[in-house]
Amino acid sequence: MTGMEAGVAGSGERDYVLGTHREEIERLGLQHRVWRPQVLECWRRAGITVGSRVLDVGAGPGYATLDLAEVVGPTGEVHAVERSGNFLEHARRACEARGLANVRFHEQDLMAGPLEVAHMDAAWCRWVASFVSDPAKLAGAVARALKPGGAAIFHEYLDYRTWRLAPPCPPLEAFVSEVMASWRASGGEPDIALSLPALLEDAGLTVTHLEPKVFVVPPTDFIWKWPSEFVEINLQRLLELGRVDEAWTQRVRQALRTAEADPRTLMITPMVLEIVARRRG
Ligand SMILES: C[S@@+](CC[C@H](N)C(=O)[O-])C[C@H]1O[C@@H](n2cnc3c(N)ncnc32)[C@H](O)[C@@H]1O
Repeated sequence: MTGMEAGVAGSGERDYVLGTHREEIERLGLQHRVWRPQVLECWRRAGITVGSRVLDVGAGPGYATLDLAEVVGPTGEVHAVERSGNFLEHARRACEARGLANVRFHEQDLMAGPLEVAHMDAAWCRWVASFVSDPAKLAGAVARALKPGGAAIFHEYLDYRTWRLAPPCPPLEAFVSEVMASWRASGGEPDIALSLPALLEDAGLTVTHLEPKVFVVPPTDFIWKWPSEFVEINLQRLLELGRVDEAWTQRVRQALRTAEADPRTLMITPMVLEIVARRRG
């Protein structure tokens, strides 16, 4: 089912290369649950605490937004900026359901115009820089939203090609190449963390922490679910985009199933770089 079939209004809904349909919302939820322990720990180290004012940049359906709102509590504030009205509506409803009144929602394109928020203690940005047309503009917008000393925290891909299986699985490697090509075709860059530290320095931030994150896990590990769910949903997306045909998707699906059925298989996950940078002056 596409976003339009799901009743999502507005042509902008199709802008994001991975889509904003229900399955993608669910996938982003699983992805957040897999990463939550890493994320909570990095927020704590960067100084996010009770009473903090935090910007969630490209918040998606709001999974991190909810956790941030709970961490900062009623004396703090979270501002979720997101282009997709469908995602933002999901975030809004989830906050209401949890009784969280400390979140403000901004339906805004990060590439168009200045952000409405300033003097933030921190900004959180995950898996967004790969999809924007101008990452330097993103770095500038984040820098301007922070107070002096405020922390910009990024989790972005450093080396997407680390995503492999052991023993090697050529159909999965072909899939990874196709995903990278599809992001580039839509104006993004998968390995954006190669450029981000320099862009942040140029934007008036000082990089204070860099940490690569990569996992090597068997099929029974919860972390396995993060990339494997992505394969299923993104095969559909690549078909929709007309980049591959049904037979190609079946080969990838079958190869992954076979690998998954063997408990000796290991998955090496796509490498993410954690970046913390502080606004100068
Ligand atoms: C992979 S999702 C990540 C969502 C969320 N940060 C998370 O970690 O779950 C990428 C998000 O970036 C948003 N995005 C991409 N380009 C954007 C832009 N120019 N302005 C605002 N949001 C954008 C997409 O709509 C999508 O919600």
